[in-house]
Amino acid sequence: LREHEEFTKVKNISTIELGKYEIETWYFSPFPPEYKDCVKLFFCEFCLNFMKRKEQLQRHMRKCDLKHPPGDEIYRSGTLSMFEVDGKKNKVYAQNLCYLAKLFLDHKTLYYDVDLFLFYVLCECDDRGCHMVGYFSKEKHSEEAYNLACILTLPSYQRKGYGKFLIAFSYELSKKEGKVGTPERPLSDLGLLSYRGYWTRVLLEILKKHKGNISIKELSDVTAIKAEDILSTLQSLELIQYRKGQHVICADPKVLDRHLKAAGRGGLDVDASKLIWTPYK
Ligand code: ACO
Ligand code: ZN
Repeated sequence: LREHEEFTKVKNISTIELGKYEIETWYFSPFPPEYKDCVKLFFCEFCLNFMKRKEQLQRHMRKCDLKHPPGDEIYRSGTLSMFEVDGKKNKVYAQNLCYLAKLFLDHKTLYYDVDLFLFYVLCECDDRGCHMVGYFSKEKHSEEAYNLACILTLPSYQRKGYGKFLIAFSYELSKKEGKVGTPERPLSDLGLLSYRGYWTRVLLEILKKHKGNISIKELSDVTAIKAEDILSTLQSLELIQYRKGQHVICADPKVLDRHLKAAGRGGLDVDASKLIWTPYK
């Protein structure tokens, strides 16, 4: 019922201000009732508190002492940093992030308890502070082997490779946990495109380097990508044959090269050696 209500609700907030950006919103987000008549909201880009008026935000900025997301910096490479925020320890921040994210996420219901999630917030840092580019959330304990619940790149930063960076990061965490992972379903159109792109590139690169036969299980072990996702990706690339009741990878070098060319640019890579992190216990 809640889901249905959400789908039938009209978009309320149509614009937000966040850092130096003014952003048009995409979908309804369930802000508290006192914000229901607002057309525009003003966010503090660091603590993500939101306000109805620009003057309130200006006043807030003079006293807000946060310059990065509250939490541990677990990755830094050049100007890119990733912060891990525990939804239980930083409840208000996590809730604000969910309200903000829902403005760009259609199918997701964000009524879950933020206590149960960790939030990985990607920032571009300069001398003024760490500016949020996007984030993904992850359940502290997932029974379904989900390694990512929601992913967002803020519209001002989209199509620059940050989405695939966030996805790659989620798999680096899974590798450290020694587990395979998969994103929570359903995926949005843009989510599916980004995942397909990521899976395709990672798998093609391994197949290209690998000599001899390799199984889906082996691919899964080195990439932390769930076997089903590997199978569906390779099937869509027509690299799978069904022989004697088994799926077999048939990686003809010419076909691989053709696909690799079509897969386009690799984008931003995660440097796993710069990740300082231990799994949540
Ligand atoms: N049109 C066509 N293809 C696109 C577009 C677009 N507007 N945006 C992304 N893609 C595809 C492309 O194939 C792109 O690869 P390419 O640039 O090499 O061709 C690929 O997706 C990934 O692009 P990135 O730049 O790495 O990703 P981006 O930073 O734009 O983030 C994301 C992708 C996170 C899905 C973003 O579009 C977004 O935040 N969308 C709104 C929220 C959303 O839908 N999230 C996923 C929900 S599902 C879930 O959370 C489990
Ligand atoms: Zn603030």
